[in-house]
Amino acid sequence: MASFSMHTHTCNELRAGDIDTQVVLTGWVWHRRDHGGLIFIDLRDREGLTQVSFDPDLCSAEVFHTAETVRTEWPIKVTGVVRPRPEGMANPRLATGEIEVLASQIEVLNTSRTPAFQIEDELDLAEDIRLRYRYLDLRRPSMMSNLRLRSDFTFAIRDALHRRAFMEVETPALFKSTPEGARDFVVPSRLQSGKFYALPQSPQLLKQLLMVGGVERYYQVAKCFRDEDLRADRQPEFTQVDIEMSFVEQDDVMGALEEALADAFAAVGVEMSTPLRRLTYREAMDTYGTDKPDTRYDMRLHDVTDLFHESKFKIFATAANTDGQVIKCIKVNEAGKWARSRIDKLSKVAATFGAKGLAWIAFREDGSVNSPIVKFFSDEEMEGLRAACDVEPGDLVLFAAGPWQSTCEILGGMRVHMAKAMELPLEGHDFLWVVDFPLVHWDEEAQRYAAEHQPFTQPEEADIERLETDPLSVGSHTYDFVMDGYEAGGGGMRVHNAELQMRILKLLGFTEERAREQFGFLLEALEYGAPPMGGFALGLDRVCMLLAGCDSIREVMAFPKTTNGNDLMSDAPSAVSDRQLKDVGLRLL
Ligand code: AMO
Ligand code: AMP
Repeated sequence: MASFSMHTHTCNELRAGDIDTQVVLTGWVWHRRDHGGLIFIDLRDREGLTQVSFDPDLCSAEVFHTAETVRTEWPIKVTGVVRPRPEGMANPRLATGEIEVLASQIEVLNTSRTPAFQIEDELDLAEDIRLRYRYLDLRRPSMMSNLRLRSDFTFAIRDALHRRAFMEVETPALFKSTPEGARDFVVPSRLQSGKFYALPQSPQLLKQLLMVGGVERYYQVAKCFRDEDLRADRQPEFTQVDIEMSFVEQDDVMGALEEALADAFAAVGVEMSTPLRRLTYREAMDTYGTDKPDTRYDMRLHDVTDLFHESKFKIFATAANTDGQVIKCIKVNEAGKWARSRIDKLSKVAATFGAKGLAWIAFREDGSVNSPIVKFFSDEEMEGLRAACDVEPGDLVLFAAGPWQSTCEILGGMRVHMAKAMELPLEGHDFLWVVDFPLVHWDEEAQRYAAEHQPFTQPEEADIERLETDPLSVGSHTYDFVMDGYEAGGGGMRVHNAELQMRILKLLGFTEERAREQFGFLLEALEYGAPPMGGFALGLDRVCMLLAGCDSIREVMAFPKTTNGNDLMSDAPSAVSDRQLKDVGLRLL
């Protein structure tokens, strides 16, 4: 690295080969130890740590006195000579552990108030205090390493796309509503009082217009804004690597994405072998009970509907004999040893996934069976079940019965819960595509059809004729990129025909007038020779979270918000002056 006037090396650079070199280091005082007349300072910068020693016999009294007075987190500049650590004092766990810098000069660059917490990785700190003093939190080596990983990965994916002839094009943040299923953040206009911009939920419409504009291969590391309830993997503003291509078919897009993603992952030391496995949405739901399965562990859902048509257990018999209903189960190795009270508590967990009950059978190791429902089972049903799930002593089988979708989802939730409870080892990373989502689903709350991905998705050509008559049976050209059980990205082919786009908007409950009001510019653009197109957006925060091995995207964002949407450092959101409100023509209720 280039040397600067203020320092010659970083705090992670000096090795045994540098012994006797005169050096200048800058950084923060991390730890200071007074040892029988010697003072040791661990000097920390973003790269690492170097031990600096002050010997009263080998530096001036003034320098020694300054070294005595500096406190933790003061930034200092130290001049000295590199020397080996004394016999037996080397620290093999530290990159600079063989040497220390014997100081001849010290300059205090600034003082510091005592930090609200120590700058250490191991401390179990409340997140609120970390966010309140984020600039201190970022000094912790683990946070710095997360930021670096994110920077490296972002650079790598930019590079991978650039090398494949993708152009980075910026799109506006002040725009019109771009629906991705969340609420918009709106920004009042001063120049046109009473009117509003919406911050983009994604650059979706704009990238389609770029395709109409002839860009052919676009990408952007884009900020997206969604006013939705926040969770560990959701922030109100987050970053996508947004991509779109034209004059392509679905496999061209997926192939290009796989190549670029594999290159970017390789750049941060993660192998993603291609082609990626593809599961259809239906297969993923049937087998794993989710459209974003973690397949590093098995614990598949078994369909045992056919075993129970004649069952004396009413709940099962009803499901088995009702159209659209199923009986499914998962087998959890070793959990059959759990005490009954512990197993009973699982029904509360299942309730959080929407279950009305959770039937179970514990196969004890002594060959006996414990269960609230086996008394209703015939020998045949029991044998059928054992065979279907390949049951061994020590297994616990959990059942859900009811409509296909909710039954899958309940067991999908239990599968994830039980994998955590059993502490199943999760080694390496798991990548796959889930493809062929339905075009729409029925939204109970809104009492209308809602787009499964977004309203601009290309339906399966053969299904288009059923758009109005049987919309739930219409497939789509869609693909989600799933990493370690998270939806890490998603995309699809787009409608490039104005008429078809209008039919879909109508299906989603728009009148022609409303559709033109909101999407007129898109519908119009589609009439000017829009090419076939498709694309994708990678959730950059989520991918970096998984690469860093964290369980919240806040750990890979420099300044994230709390689940209430607060920034604890600046106290945003905050009130604005009456004057500012007046400027934009607003009065508060
Ligand atoms: P989608 O809405 O699926 O698709 O978003 C793409 C990816 O962005 C990530 N993501 C989020 N990350 C953090 N916080 C959030 N609130 C959040 N919401 C989404 C997810 C998700 O997979 N325009 C389409 C893409 C396309 O079709 O090209 C879109 O935005 O990892
Ligand atoms: P009950 O006859 O209501 O006491 O239920 C017997 C067992 O079946 C209990 O363990 C319930 O938790 C379970 N159960 C109830 N409804 C369902 C369902 N839809 N799917 C699976 N198990 C259920």
